[in-house]
Amino acid sequence: MEELLEKVRNCRRCKLWRTRKNPVIGSGDINADIMLIGEAPGRNEDIEGIPFVGAAGEILDELLSSINLNREKVYIANILKCRPPGNRDPSREEIDACTPHLDRQIELIKPKIVVTLGNFATRYTLEKFGFKPESIGRIHGKIFDVKDRNSKIVPVYHPASALYNPGIKGLMLDDFRVIGDLIDKYKVS
Ligand code: URA
Repeated sequence: MEELLEKVRNCRRCKLWRTRKNPVIGSGDINADIMLIGEAPGRNEDIEGIPFVGAAGEILDELLSSINLNREKVYIANILKCRPPGNRDPSREEIDACTPHLDRQIELIKPKIVVTLGNFATRYTLEKFGFKPESIGRIHGKIFDVKDRNSKIVPVYHPASALYNPGIKGLMLDDFRVIGDLIDKYKVS
């Protein structure tokens, strides 16, 4: 992990290092069985170098606590480690350049449950493990079984979507209940 941190701090694989303040690599327990993958750092994350510290982070905390989890018990990373200016969507080139870092994180953490937050994380992760990606609206809360790795992927809406569409919160709580049930069933910690 130390090696990876150093690599990302010095990364120049795309142009985002020029405009970011800090890379946001990941946070939480590197021995966790549960890994959450978001999209990219926003303004607050860029300043602090920690994922999900802004408004979306508050919603994420609430969702985690609804199933008796907190940030110390999971590992949180993003598709992009550096903030896209103005919080624009990640580009294809940036995703291609940055995701080897995420791949390495997944290898190191070896999560049993991967929770993908929103469309970008879901598309990347499902494709990586050989599933056909679909929009989050169609597959949120479904369980994708990665048999050869003994792990599951559960796509959920991005926490920020509850900021724009408060009605979605109930669906997100339902999806987190699916994750809570998986944790109980497989005695994941
Ligand atoms: N949104 C994300 O996807 N990731 C963060 O770290 C913060 C907001």
